[in-house]
Amino acid sequence: MKSSIIAFFCLLTVLSFDIIAQKKPSKIGEIAAQLDYAFDEIAKVKAINPKAVSPRSTKGDTLLMVPSKDWTSGFFAGDLWYMYELTKDEKWLVKAKEFTAPLEREKTNGTTHDMGFKMYCSFGNGYRLTKDPKYRDILLEAARTLTTRFNPTIGCIKSWDHHNDVWPFPVIIDNMMNLELLFWAFKETKDSLFYKVAISHANTTMKNHFRADYSSYHVIGYDVKTGKAIQKNTHQGYNDASAWARGQSWGLYSYAMCFRETGDAKYLNQAENIAQFILKHPNLPEDLVPYWDYNAPTIPNTPRDVSAASIMASAFYELSTQVPAKAKFYKQTADKLMESLSAKYRAGLKTNKGFLLTSSTGNLPANSEINVPMVYADYYYLEALLRKRNLKKQ
Ligand code: GLY
Repeated sequence: MKSSIIAFFCLLTVLSFDIIAQKKPSKIGEIAAQLDYAFDEIAKVKAINPKAVSPRSTKGDTLLMVPSKDWTSGFFAGDLWYMYELTKDEKWLVKAKEFTAPLEREKTNGTTHDMGFKMYCSFGNGYRLTKDPKYRDILLEAARTLTTRFNPTIGCIKSWDHHNDVWPFPVIIDNMMNLELLFWAFKETKDSLFYKVAISHANTTMKNHFRADYSSYHVIGYDVKTGKAIQKNTHQGYNDASAWARGQSWGLYSYAMCFRETGDAKYLNQAENIAQFILKHPNLPEDLVPYWDYNAPTIPNTPRDVSAASIMASAFYELSTQVPAKAKFYKQTADKLMESLSAKYRAGLKTNKGFLLTSSTGNLPANSEINVPMVYADYYYLEALLRKRNLKKQ
């Protein structure tokens, strides 16, 4: 009798723990469930359009999928590699490989600067986690293709082949993010071309893209004959003189990355100055999630850009490892960003077409992708979660 009472209470305890666990699944468990839902939604679009390889955003009630050539095609595969890294569950490995494979054809696509976004987030994470030599070959070919867009007179990789009537040689701040692929290729091969191109691009961008307050222009137009910066404009920001929010985040993240890859203090200095610009800006909201442009005239009645915040979160975790004297401050800043994103901008399960975050802004002046989920916001959110977890382990 006594033993059956004990057994009954044991069962009750197990059941109540189970109920609590069901009520409050772990953050990673919630993300996994949402991505499972994303797979269902993706399958529906792929059934109609097999060339659609990756989810990008939503339009009304429709999931927007893109072909491999789109600049965002590598982020979803990257999400899945991060899930594999976070959980060690083979299920994510299988899925990550499945969504990475169709991007291979981009390795020879020399018509864009977005090679790093497409290939390093997908194959780059895949190679880091699996050491599959096929991934290495693909990445090296992609890096070689990217260097073909480098102009030695200017000292930069050309960003777009479109809009050449406006900018004969445009370089956008976003382009800095692609340098990580080149730094990786240099480490793998010791071919100094990769390093020289990356350094030259980072230095030329530092010289021409930044204003005295360390905010950055979005687009710099170069003269191909003289190599001089002749146009200072925006494409996705409020105006030429404004600070487009995602652009500031690309700058912050990429100069911290350049410091990691080179050890050159001038890049760390640049990243810290950009951080100051962002964090001291009077228009940065209390929750640290910026409006789409720091100078948008209708602040606070204008959309946020959650992607700018998730890129920042990941960058601040990196900075916390790079500046011992300010490690606590940068980590607290990243934690605050993650708390805001998780509390206010995480989509409910089986909503948002499977994206994790809401409320990013792609290109407001073009009336495109305003206040919507964007796959790259999710990618940097997962990367930040991983960086946060790795910091805890130390
Ligand atoms: N690289 C394009 C964007 O940030 O919108």
